[in-house]
Amino acid sequence: MSAPTIVDSMAPDRLQPTVRVEALDYFYGEGESRNQVLFDNRIEIEAGQFVVMTGPSGAGKTTLLTLVGALRSVQEGRIEVLGHDLSTLGRRELVATRRHVGFIFQMHNLFDALSAYENVKMAMQLGDCPVAEMRQRGTAILDRLGLGNRVDYMPQSLSGGQRQRVAIARALVNRPKLVLADEPTAALDRESAHKVVDLLKETTIEQGSTVVMVTHDHRIIEKADRLVHMVDGRIASDVVLHDAMRICEFLKTVDAFSYLTPIELTNVAEKMTKRQFIAGDVIIRQGEAGEEFFLISDGMVEVMREGHDVAELGAGDFFGEASLITGEPRNATVVAKDNLDTYVLGKPDFRAAIEASRSFRDQLYRVYFLRH
Ligand SMILES: Nc1ncnc2c1ncn2[C@@H]1O[C@H](COP(=O)(O)OP(=O)(O)OP(=O)(O)O)[C@@H](O)[C@H]1O
Ligand SMILES: [Mg+2]
Repeated sequence: MSAPTIVDSMAPDRLQPTVRVEALDYFYGEGESRNQVLFDNRIEIEAGQFVVMTGPSGAGKTTLLTLVGALRSVQEGRIEVLGHDLSTLGRRELVATRRHVGFIFQMHNLFDALSAYENVKMAMQLGDCPVAEMRQRGTAILDRLGLGNRVDYMPQSLSGGQRQRVAIARALVNRPKLVLADEPTAALDRESAHKVVDLLKETTIEQGSTVVMVTHDHRIIEKADRLVHMVDGRIASDVVLHDAMRICEFLKTVDAFSYLTPIELTNVAEKMTKRQFIAGDVIIRQGEAGEEFFLISDGMVEVMREGHDVAELGAGDFFGEASLITGEPRNATVVAKDNLDTYVLGKPDFRAAIEASRSFRDQLYRVYFLRH
């Protein structure tokens, strides 16, 4: 095994939320007709989350989305997007921040004089896609959305749903860090709606992008990581649906994982399963083949070699990595001291995570060598 290299290049802001909303109020109109439509809203949205927003008509969903997208100005309260407080940004900085945001709204303003591909290309010209790659990237995303045979069509020769998908391709082609989508699938049939949502979900997993999407479609709600429900201008409920997200939150607090990018964290978390033990359970046994990696979320374990206690481990500690790294039998026995909650990663997924993430590998090796 070659000597481990320790990577300490973590950008300090990597784990900051993509969106942070604090004490946000909003009013339409002035004087007598001034009408409050948002009341004291607060929310933090981490990178990589797929958030679905629901709520009755008039609840304030679109208003909130347009404020987060800096399409309207904050009146009272505070919104931070990608670490920037929107109300302190000048015009130029606002434009720069908006460049990292993909908007998908019902009113898609395609350029009638440009083909589907040319509309998408216009967006790419504002991003950082190399000119030589534009055609390939643009047609690939149109193809993903079921428009592979409509690439060179003009908007007036496309159906409403097809135009909507061109607008979606345009919003996503620059791989924005934040996607704000207001009922993007409302005009689409079932199959196209699924294509759109799968693509959005993929951007959260593969690029660590954050998606906030208003929808009433229950088939889409199932895919969400988090469900935010608005009623009468307030966030009435906010539920994290996937355990992977909770595991991710926990992994971030663990030293060995803190160097992972949000996407790497999510990939590891999605493979982990929760397992509980009771006091006295032998979790791994010295001499046996190693099949799993364990991370303690709550409780304590005793590590023993040749029948002697050598260490105690608690929340945030992990064990079982050594024989997965070396392929040798377990070099210790680990016993639960009290009721224990763990997250478990199987050998193939552990190996895959190590292959996929150099920082994960380096951190594990570092801890592994420190223990020897
Ligand atoms: N431009 C405007 N001027 C005045 N009032 C507005 C304006 N836009 C929205 N409102 C009011 O603000 C409230 C919230 O509207 P918003 O469009 O944010 O709701 P929504 O949750 O998106 O509803 P829907 O599901 O119907 O799209 C509503 O009472 C609406 O009448
Ligand atoms: Mg709306």
